[in-house]
Amino acid sequence: MSRSWIRDGYKNVADVFSKADLKNRHFPTLKGHPAAQQHAEQVVESHHALQENIKALKKEFKIYRWNPDNPYQKPYLQSYFVDLSTCGPMVLDALQKIKAEDDSSLSYRRSCREGICGSCAMNIDGTNTVACLKPIDVDTSKATFITPLPHMYVIKDLVADLTNFYQQYKSIEPWLKTKKPPPEGREYKQTPAERKRLDGLYECILCACCSTSCPSYWWNPEKFLGPAALLHTYRWITDSRDDFTDERLQALTQDETRLYRCRTIRNCTATCPKSLNPANAINKMKTRHLISQPVEKMEGQDQQAFGQA
Ligand code: SF4
Ligand code: SF4
Ligand code: FES
Repeated sequence: MSRSWIRDGYKNVADVFSKADLKNRHFPTLKGHPAAQQHAEQVVESHHALQENIKALKKEFKIYRWNPDNPYQKPYLQSYFVDLSTCGPMVLDALQKIKAEDDSSLSYRRSCREGICGSCAMNIDGTNTVACLKPIDVDTSKATFITPLPHMYVIKDLVADLTNFYQQYKSIEPWLKTKKPPPEGREYKQTPAERKRLDGLYECILCACCSTSCPSYWWNPEKFLGPAALLHTYRWITDSRDDFTDERLQALTQDETRLYRCRTIRNCTATCPKSLNPANAINKMKTRHLISQPVEKMEGQDQQAFGQA
């Protein structure tokens, strides 16, 4: 079989498909060749099936875009289509793929890609979470919407300004504070039971998903500390090695809005990607503070805390 014959054969097949009416499966050049006609029909059929499958593997992501270099352009949602057959299973994988292959200008934070650093927090399909722990919804008939953490100033695209959030965290003095040196001069020890009391508190990765899902925090971000900083306060109050429990509680309640703006709505607990319970920690601190108060003062505090909307 000569090479030119093969080359001509390929050319003929290509001609057949380029001239054929694929919808009607009509191949004039194959007239009188039933076997070839049948094969051509099969190819058309499988070609359609292939196209459908490829379409089914493409997932649309609608992503919030805003660039401070174009301040007069309003924020908008930009569509990207990602081939799921060549993408990892998490939303962060899709973002990485979009940035690497489609649009390097897309901005978002990420670091560990395993739910440890808290930097890839964003709102995905209406829920605050970290993108590296959020599986892609493989239903390709609907798009996935990705926006920055709500009610925050946006620096660019999916990057929210967390300056206030971190300042509030700093304000609770999140480190071990003691009044006496360690008993043996080297370290402050804990029993296994004392250490266990920190479970459900120390795992917080400061992603800000909870605080930015809290309506009380949306309306009072400067005054109310928000669930993340409050969970950390409780973490240090609970720590058996810390000697400043009373001072920490006092600092928290000097201005009633820092703690008591929490209305126990529990959005914070519902959204936490680490399954922590900041609402519970807040309630325990409120109880602890209230039972340490004389009755007259408690009544005054109730009015003050619940009278201000
Ligand atoms: S409590 Fe949960 S949602 Fe809030 S900052 Fe910590 S890890 Fe994130
Ligand atoms: S429970 Fe408190 S901190 Fe949590 S979302 Fe509700 S108001 Fe905010
Ligand atoms: S990249 Fe670190 S938590 Fe997602």
